[in-house]
This record gives sequence, structure tokens and C-alpha cells, in this order.
Amino acid sequence: MSVYSFSEGSSVAKALGQYVKSKYDTAMAKHGRFTLALSGGSLPKVLAEGLSQQKDNIDFSKWEIFFADERIVPLEDENSNYALCKEVLFDVLPGFVPEQIHTIDTKFLKQNPLDSQAVADEYEKQLVHVFANASTVKVPVFDLMLLGCGPDGHTCSLFPDHELLDEDVAWVAPITDSPKPPKERITLTIPVVTHALSVAFVTTGAAKQDILPVVIEDTTSKLPSALISRAHPDRISWFLDDDASAKLDKS
Ligand code: 6PG
Repeated sequence: MSVYSFSEGSSVAKALGQYVKSKYDTAMAKHGRFTLALSGGSLPKVLAEGLSQQKDNIDFSKWEIFFADERIVPLEDENSNYALCKEVLFDVLPGFVPEQIHTIDTKFLKQNPLDSQAVADEYEKQLVHVFANASTVKVPVFDLMLLGCGPDGHTCSLFPDHELLDEDVAWVAPITDSPKPPKERITLTIPVVTHALSVAFVTTGAAKQDILPVVIEDTTSKLPSALISRAHPDRISWFLDDDASAKLDKS
């Protein structure tokens, strides 16, 4: 596991941009495209800042983008992770192909307004479609997952002690009791996240300083971010600022 901490947010963004560029280069050399899953929260803005420094050397038309999680709201809603990414990334950096930005679309709720499982199933179909020709069939293998970590140790829409942490069949699942509003969300499941070739957690601010020692240093922690971090530590990087990392063991 690699843990990086920087004194300023702009340095976190710069390092993240360089890291994503290197993962993009590796993926392009290997299979000519870059498959990526994005979270919401504070991540898209940090990512956008970092990528703006790399944009001349990246062909965004080769990006195949999924969402690590999404809120059950219309895509244009201000709470939508897609809407945030569109505003700060897709509408700003050049070359993204709309058909390669795979949204979790609540239009599939129209047939049955209560059935968020239908939205999850539809998203799983999109994953099957995009990853079908790849060598992996049982679980999609993303080149990169970019995740946040909440002050309670959640990541994606996988929350502490939630039954979804035991999901080992579905790739995508609904959650209707999210402690972080809104309650209704769709999330990638742990098997999909832990099969990614690389996973970066991007977390800044003092509100995270109490949970990070538990997530990163406590080898018995059952918190979602800890479970993912420990599954394949060699694939995991943490991008923090010094406020967030203040209570980590620096020795
Ligand atoms: C969401 C996010 C969620 C987020 C964390 C951290 O839709 O709410 O995808 O998993 O990444 O809550 O968010 P912050 O970085 O804003 O603290």
C-alpha cells in the first residue's frame, strides 16, 4: 500500500493527476483503452485539477467511465455524481465520448418507481457489455477505481456494518438506507472494487483524521475502506493532505 500526504490540496491534485496519467499509459499500452470508475463527493474536483495539468498528453476519447456509486436522483439533479463530474470534468476537459460515460440512470425507475434493483441490474448489463470481450468474464477488471473515504470509513455507497459488505454475487447493488443522504443509492460491490488493477483513495481534511488510522493501520478493521485496502495492498494508493493524515503513524 502506498500512502502519500501533501501539505496543500493543489499538491494532492497534482500527484493524483500524475498517478492517473501513469495508469492510463499502462492501460493504453496493454489494451488501447482506459477503464475507470469514479466516485462523487470531493473527488471529481481534485481529479479535474490534477488532470488539467496532464490533459495535453491524454486522449480522453479512450476513456471508458463508470460510476463507483450514484445517488438515486435524476442525472441533472445537483446531488447526482454524474452531474458533478459533467460540470467539472466532462464539460471541461476535451475529448470525452458521451457513449463511453456510463451513467447510472434513474429513468429505469419509471416502470416501477420503487425498484432501484432495476437500476442496478441495468448498470450491471452495461458492465457486462463493456467488459465482455476482456479476458475476465466473472468480474469486470477496471484499470483504475478512484474512491473517496467518509469520516465513518465508508467508500462508494458501502457503509460500515451494512449487509452489502457481504455481497459476493452481484456486481452492482441498490441501497435504500444509506446513512449519508440521499438514502437511495446504487453502488459497485466489493468484489468489483477489489478486482480493479489499481485503486486510489483520495481523502482530504481534518474530518478524516480520526478514521484513517483505523482504516489504514488497524489490520482487523471491518470498515469498508479497510476491507478494500487490505484485499490487495499492492494495488492501493492513498492520496491525503496533511490534515487528513495527521494521526497516522509516520515512523
Ligand atoms: C457519494 C460518494 C461517496 C464519497 C465519500 C467521500 O456519492 O457520496 O461517492 O462514497 O466518495 O462519501 O466523500 P468526500 O470526499 O466528499 O468526503
